[in-house]
Formats: sequence, C-alpha cells, structure tokens
Amino acid sequence: MKKSYFIQTYGCQMNVADSELIEKILIDHGYHKSNEPQNADAIFINTCAIREHAEQKVHSILGRLAKIKKEKPSVLLGVVGCMAQSLKHDLLEKRPYVDIILGPDSYRRLPQLLERTKDNKNSIVDTKLSRFEVYDDLFPSRKEGINAWISIMRGCDKFCTFCIVPFTRGRERSRSIVSILNEAEVAVKQGFKEITLLGQNVNSYNYEGMRFNQLIENVAKIPGIDRIRFTSPHPNDFPLELLHTMAEHKNICNYVHLPMQSGSDRILSRMNRDYSRQEFVEIAKRIRNIIPNVGISTDIIVGFPGETDNDFQETMETMREIKFDSAYNFKYSPRRGTKASEYDDQVDDYVKNERLDQIISLQKKHTLERNLSLIGSTQKVLIEKESKLSKDQWAGRTDSNKWIMFDKGDLNIKDMVEVKVIDAKGVTLAGRTLNVPSVA
Ligand code: 5AD
Ligand code: SF4
Repeated sequence: MKKSYFIQTYGCQMNVADSELIEKILIDHGYHKSNEPQNADAIFINTCAIREHAEQKVHSILGRLAKIKKEKPSVLLGVVGCMAQSLKHDLLEKRPYVDIILGPDSYRRLPQLLERTKDNKNSIVDTKLSRFEVYDDLFPSRKEGINAWISIMRGCDKFCTFCIVPFTRGRERSRSIVSILNEAEVAVKQGFKEITLLGQNVNSYNYEGMRFNQLIENVAKIPGIDRIRFTSPHPNDFPLELLHTMAEHKNICNYVHLPMQSGSDRILSRMNRDYSRQEFVEIAKRIRNIIPNVGISTDIIVGFPGETDNDFQETMETMREIKFDSAYNFKYSPRRGTKASEYDDQVDDYVKNERLDQIISLQKKHTLERNLSLIGSTQKVLIEKESKLSKDQWAGRTDSNKWIMFDKGDLNIKDMVEVKVIDAKGVTLAGRTLNVPSVA
C-alpha cells in the first residue's frame, strides 16, 4: 500500500517553497499527501528560527505530535528547516521521539533516510550546510493555485547582527538562469498566473555574472505570465536598472518589499545594515518616482539592543517621511549565536511592547491614508479567492499588493480584471468591477 505524508510549514515563503520540494521528493518515492497528521505514515514539520515566537510554535506542535507518536510508534517524525539546523542538540535531548532532523541543504537525503529508519530506530541528523546546493534539477510539487514560488538563490552572506538566517541557511548561492526559466515555464503550463522569485537577497543574485535584473527581464518575456513578484531585495545596491525594468514590463508588479529595520543611523550601523537612514529614504523616493503607483512595504524591528527612545523616534520619523503602504513590525528577539544577542544593552520587554504598539498604530494610519488615496482609481486585479466576509464577493490583489473585494458577477478565480476602488477600510480596499477581464 502507498504510504502517506503530512507536512506542516512555518515561517517565510522560502520554507513554503522548500516544503514543495520535499513534497516532490516524497511523491517521487511513492508517498501520497494526507491532510491529517493522524492518518499519515510520515509527518514533517518545516520549521522557522527567525524569532523565538516561531520556535515556540514548533515546540507546541511537537508536543502534540508526541502523542500521535506514542499511539502509533511506526509513524516517522521529521523536523526539517531552519530550526533543525540551530536546535539539533536541544531537539535530540528534549524530543527523542523525533526520527529525522534535516537542515535546509539536506533534503536530497530524504529517500535514503526513509529507507534507513525502517530498521534503524536511532534519530538521524543531517544539518550540514552546502556551498553549492540549489536543488537545481528538482521542480517542486505545487498545489493547484495562483502563485508559484520559485527559489532563485539560497542562503545569505549579509550577517545582519540580529539575524539567524546566515547560520541556518548558510552561504549565498544562486541557481542557474536556465533552470529558473524552465521552472517558470512549467508553472505557466500548469496554470499558475503569478510567479514570485524568492531569495534572501534577490539583488545579490549572481549566476556566472548574470544578475537579478537580467533574470527578471527574461522571466517577464515568458508568454503567459500575468504577474511577476519578487522578495526580498536588500536596500543596499538596489539597482536603478531594476526599477526601470519594473516600470517597463507590465507583468512585473509595481510592488517592492524593502526592509528598513530601523530609522536610526546608530542602530542601523549596530545592525550591520550598511546603509544610512538618508540613503534608505532616497531609495524609497527613487522607487516611488520611477515606478508609477508603486506599493512599498517594509520590515521594522523595535527594541534592538541599545535602542534609545531617541533612536525609536527616528524610526517613527522615517516612517512618517516615507509612509509605507504596509509594514511587518517585530520586537527584537535575541537569537543564539548572532552578534546582537551578545550585546549587553538589551531592551526591556515592556519597552519593546510599547514601541511595537506605537509603530503598529502609526503604520495603520499610513496604510489607511495611502489606501484612501486610491479611491476613484482603476486597478488591475487578479482574482485569487472568495472573500472571507461574503460568499458573494471575490478577493484579489492589485499589482501593488493590496487586497480588494468586489462582487463576483460572472467572473472567476484567476481572471485578471479592472476594478474601480470605491472605499478603503483598514488594510483592504472595496471595489466595483468594470466586469471585463483585462488582458495582462
Ligand atoms: N528579531 C526580530 N525580528 C527579526 N527579523 C529577523 N531577525 C529578527 C530577530 N532576531 C525580521 C527582520 C527581517 C524579517 C524577515 O524578520 O525584520 O527582515
Ligand atoms: Fe537576515 Fe540580513 Fe540576510 Fe535578511 S539580509 S536574511 S535580515 S542576515
């Protein structure tokens, strides 16, 4: 009988893409997907180590899985991804019922390990990082959907002092342009409408001298791709030519996620971000000048070690100056092994909470302000799903990455339509469709 697997994914899109790779490997080795961990022969948890909260979530699900394992000892339990890398000792000590621990560069070993665990009941650990692994020849198993994540590079060499990624995912390496283009073509044939190019630092993409701008231009030329997104660029070395490419190609979305982290030069320098507040502001302005109606989102960390109230006010001030369309806001979370976790001027948790509340409410104001300014405009929208609030409405995203709801009419999921914005509520827009599927 065919065996079944269940996989649960935590963390960023890179993990989502990696889980699709793992699924491909499992399916090629005779497994089929189960939607319930209780019924599965193998259970995988793809983990995230970026903040403590992410790790806590994994520990809590592992607690629940321990019960399943007790009732059904034959079930194979695998912990993979970023936490596998950083917490292998803890996991082995505290969670001896975990059978397989694999870091993000070791997924090719899965089939071999699935065989071995039949007779070898000891946990198997492989968290070695590779300087070369890009899984070039493995095309992920994708669920029927709208968006295909395509990983273009792995790892990160920036070593921001707060970040665990360079340790969990290892050195930066880029995947060949040919294999990325092939994967994008396959995704289009499978019916995917949107491609998101993924990398920790997409503007560090470098395959035998081919840079990100050339890559995205080539992807944009593939017939049948309605939308191309990418995430994330680093504010440093943000190439001007990329902005022109984005403005020129209708199918490259006018949306940039540009992580700022802080608006204080002192903190940026302690974070090893390698740009100043002023440089960041200029990049954001340049993006808005070159790409019409662009949406800009960001990541901000509050309570980084040594962040004074003055530093924090500079972050708020920079937010006011740029007015991001949206922001992912985080409290600094010390990660073992990173430089900042050893700084001796850690900020109290209540101060972090207070600052977090303040940037969240400031950003809410800015998001609403920017969304209100769209009322009356017409937006190109790709219909993605039914609105959570009404079964009579569709939900889709504008090119600039804003959710908008509108009556279904006789439209369908995956249609690209012109929608007039009639209202803005919080983070979402309300619209009226002009009811003609538009040509991308
Ligand atoms: N604490 C809080 N936020 C973090 N991020 C990365 N590491 C940490 C940390 N230790 C945030 C950064 C990054 C995003 C993906 O996660 O803002 O851009
Ligand atoms: Fe982490 Fe900085 Fe690399 Fe982003 S650029 S993954 S924040 S080290």
